[in-house]
Parts: sequence; C-alpha cells; structure tokens
Amino acid sequence: MRAPLRLAVAASAFLVAGVLPALPARAADLALTPPMGWNSWNKFGCDVSEKLIREAADAIVASGMKDAGYQYVVIDDCWQVKRDAQGKIVPDPERFASGMKALADYIHGKGLKFGIYSDAGTGTCEKRPGSKDHEEQDAKTYAEWGVDYLKYDWCNAEGQDTRESYAKMSRALRASGRPIVFSICEWGSTKPWAWAQGVGHLWRTTGDIVDCWDCNKDWGGLGVLHIIDLQADLHPFGGPGHWNDPDMLEIGNGGLNPAESRSHFSFWALFAAPLIAGNDLQKMSKETADVLTNREVIAVDQDPLGMQGRKVRDHGSQQVWMKPLADGSRAVILFNRGTLAADGNVAWEDIGLAPGQKATVRDLWKKADGGSFTGSFKGKVGPHDVLMLRVTPEF
Ligand code: GAL
Repeated sequence: MRAPLRLAVAASAFLVAGVLPALPARAADLALTPPMGWNSWNKFGCDVSEKLIREAADAIVASGMKDAGYQYVVIDDCWQVKRDAQGKIVPDPERFASGMKALADYIHGKGLKFGIYSDAGTGTCEKRPGSKDHEEQDAKTYAEWGVDYLKYDWCNAEGQDTRESYAKMSRALRASGRPIVFSICEWGSTKPWAWAQGVGHLWRTTGDIVDCWDCNKDWGGLGVLHIIDLQADLHPFGGPGHWNDPDMLEIGNGGLNPAESRSHFSFWALFAAPLIAGNDLQKMSKETADVLTNREVIAVDQDPLGMQGRKVRDHGSQQVWMKPLADGSRAVILFNRGTLAADGNVAWEDIGLAPGQKATVRDLWKKADGGSFTGSFKGKVGPHDVLMLRVTPEF
C-alpha cells in the first residue's frame, strides 16, 4: 500500500506545483517543524477581544510556554464584523478597539507571532464575512497588520472547488510579500493530505475535536481517541513544511483526566502534529502547564526529521506506536486503551531494531532513564494512559 500512496502524493504535488508560482524562499522555509501556539476557539468560541488575546500572549510568556517553543497566538472566528465601502474587512470596533496592527505589535513585542482566521466561502462558520472574492485584498490587509499565520475554514462554500479555493488564498498570501503560515481547515473532507502539500503548511485531517476522551457529536465533533485512530494511515503524508493537523489541543479544558491529557499530548507529539493549545492560559493549573511544557515530549514533536509516527503493533486494547527521530532513536508509545492497568510491551523488531541490539530506554513523562535493555521493554500502563519512551540504540 505504501509505495502507491507515496507516488500519488508526489503526483499531486507535481500537479499543484504546476498551477502555483514558486514559493518565495522565505515562505518555503516556514513551518519546517510543526507550528506551536495557542488559539482562542476551543475555550472561548466567539467571546474574543483584544484584552483576551493580549492576556493570552502575556500568559504564554509567564507560564514558560514561550520558552518551551509556543509561538503563534491565533484569534479564531468572530473578530470580524463586516466589510467597509472599499470591501476591506473590518474588525469588531468594540472588542478590538485599538485595531489589529496594534494587537500584532503587542504580540510581536513579546517575541511571539500573530495568527488570524478567515473562511474560503462567503461567510465564516459563525456567519462573519468570509474571504471569497476578496482573497487578494484580505491577504494584503493581513500583511499590513503584521499577520504571521492564517487559519482558513470551509463553511458557506457550497459549490466551490476546494483545491482551487485554497490555492487562490495560497497565491494571494504569497503575493502579499509577507511570510504567512497557511493552515487549511476543510476538516479532511477532500483528503487534503493527498493534494495540499505546496498549497498550505498544515491541513486539518478530521472534524472538530471535542473535549472528551471517547465521544462523537452529531455535528461531526470527535473525541481524542477517535481522532487518534483516524491518524493511523496518514503517516506517509506529513513532513517539514506540510503537516497533518489532527486539530487543536483540549488539555486543560476539563473533559480529560490526567492520564487522558498525557495520552492526548503524547500522541500529538508522535504524530508531528501542530501543538496549538486551546485552554484558558491565565487560569491554567500547574498540572496542565506541566503537560503542555514537557520539553522531552515537545522535542519528539519538533524533531527535525519531521516523520509522523505510526502504529506498529495492535493487540486490541494494548498498542505500540513509533516515530523515528533524527538521532537514530525512536519515540515509542505503549498505549493502554482499556479501563484497567495492563502490561505494555515493545519488541525491538517492531521498531526497526535488531533483537540483539542494546538500547537505553528513557521515560519521557517520568523524565528518567529506565536503563539498558536488549530485545524488548515492558512496563505497566494505567487505563487510557501511555508510557512514552525514547529508545536509543547503544553503539
Ligand atoms: C470550524 C473549525 C473550528 C473553528 C470553528 C469556528 O469549522 O473547524 O476549529 O475554527 O469553525 O467557527
């Protein structure tokens, strides 16, 4: 299966390259590791304001998240209210009274980057103006304001061609002269992993995440476990500058217990997913901050090789997942989907090591070396929990 899939990706990338101008050097260098930041939607929905965004930027710095690598501060839907007589998009004058340029300056002053949201259709999902037929004007406006990241949604786009609509905004962003990370959000509906490399830097692979472990919503929202399962076959498609995006993080929003929060973060890192926090950073508990800033797990996500991890062993409720890392080590997740503690076990041949190979095993949540092992490693894993390991061959 894997070789034909790769060929399909290469072929679609070639086709896309045929319709787009060459990437300016700076845009091509964007998102060489998965973007990290914060977005307002999961916790605050439409209740956004410049005060909230400034406070989020302050908290990213104060909490240590900036030092851990979080960079983009992204306002999701509802910042915009209308277009003016010239068609220029107008931010909510009460909630963003100082204007977007001032907000961008504030965020840049903290050493962070500024992200914004629009939609490829006539209106956003919350019925604010979309960018259809205003792509160039909007891209220029974003560049003037100092925007560094655009999330581009897919509501109210009936009858539009998905690829062409995203390619149009991609071209407009490139023509704006400012390097802007382009985040495609059509919920995986047209399998963007097969066409969006070269159009955007990341693309959503599923419907919206819901703050729960195992649930589905009738509007298409998905719990963390369901999203994990939907990533299993997508590992050939992610890489530097073009990432699969399983949606923003729900850690700290109340619906996941500590084990589930650890599992959520571990899997997003193993998937080389964008790490976009979605919680209230000002009221964040120490436990939540400790998960979001675990540097050894973040290093797996940000590994320069940029490979997405995959499932290598499936025993039903016990699974083994693995991501190869640039230094020759492997990130490994022993995953217990069950409701009782169980033994997890990884055999070296499942992660591409010879059975006689000696390797150091480090536990990335305990932040401790477990010693040197030959052939396999096993350990107790709590319900809905993971053991996340870094297995480094000894030579
Ligand atoms: C959805 C999107 C969410 C959020 C929301 C805003 O389509 O998937 O992440 O952006 O729209 O209305």
